[in-house]
Amino acid sequence: MRALEALRQLSRELQAAGLQEPQREALALLQGLLQIELTALYRENPSLSQEELERLREAASRRARREPLQYILGWVDFAGLRLRVGPGVLIPRPETELLLQHALALAPKDRPIEVAEPCSGSAALALALAKALPLAQVWATECSQEALGWARLNLRQLGLEQRVHLLHGDLLEPLRGMSFDLLLGNPPYVPTGKLRGLQPEVSLWEPRQALDGGPDGLDIIRRILREAPSVLRPGAWLLLELGGQQEAAALARKAGLRDIQLKEDLAGQVRFLLCRKPL
Ligand SMILES: C[S@@+](CC[C@H](N)C(=O)[O-])C[C@H]1O[C@@H](n2cnc3c(N)ncnc32)[C@H](O)[C@@H]1O
Repeated sequence: MRALEALRQLSRELQAAGLQEPQREALALLQGLLQIELTALYRENPSLSQEELERLREAASRRARREPLQYILGWVDFAGLRLRVGPGVLIPRPETELLLQHALALAPKDRPIEVAEPCSGSAALALALAKALPLAQVWATECSQEALGWARLNLRQLGLEQRVHLLHGDLLEPLRGMSFDLLLGNPPYVPTGKLRGLQPEVSLWEPRQALDGGPDGLDIIRRILREAPSVLRPGAWLLLELGGQQEAAALARKAGLRDIQLKEDLAGQVRFLLCRKPL
């Protein structure tokens, strides 16, 4: 079968499975799995082997079960980096790139700095930050061994072992006794009661411990804000991604943090908390 015919067939299968954008996804699967450039696809319309057709059929049936496209492809692009992802780790989201941009705007660039990133998942933030700040050393923590496996793969692939340190453990516990110039994190923040209402790609496939933030979504955020002052240097910034929880600002104030700001994402939702330890 030729590639364009396979593309149309894949698109029909994804449409029949009820997916919203079957053509775009079929093209992404065909290009991503078979490494066919768009121009080559339309100009040359190559013949596909039985093995290639089988890979497309398998991908279609995985996607029909609402497995995320990124797990099927095995990668996602984040802040210009291609990261490996799969079951067991959260797929880094575009809004988290905005968190990274806020952190880069505030981070000192003229001297070596030490950065903490609890709740690291695939290590997307830690790696992108280290890539953008050549003088930074980053310590990332993660409680899930499965997620850490993906993070280690990404760390090796990007060759940042000298400057990004992945630690297994609970939030800031592995960093006890250390101090940092910057702390950023994207903790789980979905209120438990809202988990079932998420789209199936998220609720059925992504790890619950990457999403579940407790009854009000603030369980982990509350703990980070309480524990962070003991590892922040005077004047150090702390940035967290939120799921709309404006109460995070009051929690930061209660923890003795200052210069508190809430920032919105591109959709106008309160998405980020920025604050810092007083000088
Ligand atoms: C929302 S995900 C964010 C992952 C990654 N930073 C990103 O933005 O793609 C939250 C991550 O925190 C981890 N996590 C949850 N509770 C934790 C805890 N108590 N200590 C360390 N990591 C935790 C989860 O396993 C998950 O990988």
